[in-house]
Amino acid sequence: MDVTVNNYKITQNNEKGWVNAMKTIILFSTTYGCTKACADKLASQINGEVSVVNVMTDPIASIAAFDNIVLGGSIYMGQLQKKLKTFCTENINVLLKKRIALFLCCGLSENFEQSMHNAFPEQLLNRAVAKECFGGELHTSKMNLVHKMLTGMMTKVAAKEKKPPASLQPENIAKLAKIINGE
Ligand SMILES: Cc1cc2nc3c(=O)[nH]c(=O)nc-3n(C[C@H](O)[C@H](O)[C@H](O)COP(=O)(O)O)c2cc1C
Repeated sequence: MDVTVNNYKITQNNEKGWVNAMKTIILFSTTYGCTKACADKLASQINGEVSVVNVMTDPIASIAAFDNIVLGGSIYMGQLQKKLKTFCTENINVLLKKRIALFLCCGLSENFEQSMHNAFPEQLLNRAVAKECFGGELHTSKMNLVHKMLTGMMTKVAAKEKKPPASLQPENIAKLAKIINGE
């Protein structure tokens, strides 16, 4: 028997009582892998069935079957990867019927609000049950030449301004997982 409470589907399990039977898909975009690592970490903390899909490389099956949809990507020069942006606009009608959570990986957490507005449609931002900044990492060894040079420049400016280097914020991954889990 299924019962819906606060948008969660709860299924009765004879041996253990009531268990959460929600289905979650995490759709992410990444350039150098930081967001993939965060998406995997998030998946490991979410209860129920979780699918993790890279929108840049993986085929995307229908999202209609999922209760929760988590969308996240990384920011380059203030913008999200185009593939995830396009996915959001093309699927906006289905997305607006779901429980939505959003996250970004970014080096400048002080620009998080602005980056969110550049990244996601207003309707999704209003609908989201969670919007989290997971911080960022600069994987210099994997970068193309232009990104390496820009990273060098950004790192020097940050050091001059005595700003800490980009780092991950695992506490915000845990926070988003808890919201999805309804804890
Ligand atoms: C060339 C370049 C430009 C970047 N531009 C921004 C930016 O505008 N704002 C920001 O917050 N982070 C910026 N970042 C930091 C990335 O968002 C961060 O490193 C992120 O963790 C990358 O994730 P990914 O490996 O999944 O692509 C930039 C990084 C690089 C290399």
